[in-house]
Amino acid sequence: MNGRPRDARPVSRHATDDERRVDLALRPRALNEFVGQQRLKQILGMSITAARGRGEELDHVLFSGPPGLGKTSLAHIIARELGVNVHVTSGPAIERAADLAAIVNNLEKGDVLFIDEIHRLQKIVEERLYSAMEDYELHIVVGEGMGARTMKLAVKPFTLVGATTRSGLLSSPLRDRFGQHFHLDFYTADELAEIVRRSAALLTIEIDERGADEIASRSRGTPRIANRLLRRVRDFAQVNEAPIVSRQIALSALEMLEIDTAGFDKMDRAILSAIIEKFDGGPVGVESLSAAVGEEADTIEEVYEPYLLQEGFLARTSRGRVATQRAYSHLGLTRRGTLF
Ligand SMILES: Nc1ncnc2c1ncn2[C@@H]1O[C@H](COP(=O)(O)OP(=O)(O)OP(=O)(O)O)[C@@H](O)[C@H]1O
Ligand SMILES: [Mg+2]
Repeated sequence: MNGRPRDARPVSRHATDDERRVDLALRPRALNEFVGQQRLKQILGMSITAARGRGEELDHVLFSGPPGLGKTSLAHIIARELGVNVHVTSGPAIERAADLAAIVNNLEKGDVLFIDEIHRLQKIVEERLYSAMEDYELHIVVGEGMGARTMKLAVKPFTLVGATTRSGLLSSPLRDRFGQHFHLDFYTADELAEIVRRSAALLTIEIDERGADEIASRSRGTPRIANRLLRRVRDFAQVNEAPIVSRQIALSALEMLEIDTAGFDKMDRAILSAIIEKFDGGPVGVESLSAAVGEEADTIEEVYEPYLLQEGFLARTSRGRVATQRAYSHLGLTRRGTLF
């Protein structure tokens, strides 16, 4: 571990408590405020309009993708666009089948039930969810042993919105019960710049085009990181009495935060240099990598790897992760691990 709590790192993609408040203020409220993800917005917008037109509930929707890309925002947007209530819970929060029954029983017709981290549902709870999703029926076991029997309880039709950072961990019976599955992709620099400008306007931060571009290009494709960097850069501008966030102000602030040109922080660089220097470029398994850099294997897989893979700094083979030429170049290393 590096001593600092994980969430305090400038490029951690998980939200801190303070950040949840700002997340709320900056959260897009309608599909047309939601930047990027064009295909998703087009298809989802059409389903919402069609469901409204028929006066029916929307098909269950699953969102997957790395943290901070907008899954929770979309769940709220769906409810808002449908004009229904949203009930928010998460996989680990539903401990027993009875908890699920209580939640589902409370829903009004057409309501959205948002289950975050849906890959972390208990097996028994997940199985109860199947009939609720499919037939709007809850199967409740009463009695014990030989005398146990299953009672079927009708619930009002609802829309389940599930979010997961690990769609690979979802069982196929659960995945198959979602009518629509959207995988969120990392955002382009242009989209992130638009998000930065939008957030700056909401937070009344003066920023010019190039300042926004600089923050965007170092945000690892992630809106939450873009918003976080914007706030750190604002602090820097304020302390240095700069009237506006220019490219130079953004650069100086990001340099101070040790965010490099690729948007990597110390942990990204530690992962890449461990693969190169300790494991001779790989392949290396995630557990060994975890021990080498002092970060949990899950966090490496969920938070760090996706962007490193997408940007071509890492490659995954059947025998583990390997560093690509791009990783060597970025760290200023040659293939043998020596400095130029
Ligand atoms: N497409 C977008 N347009 C504008 N802002 C966005 C967009 N996506 C995300 N954001 C911003 O990023 C913040 C984080 O998004 P959100 O909480 O929806 O991500 P998430 O995918 O649910 O993350 P996690 O997996 O950590 O729960 C939001 O509060 C919002 O300010
Ligand atoms: Mg979320």
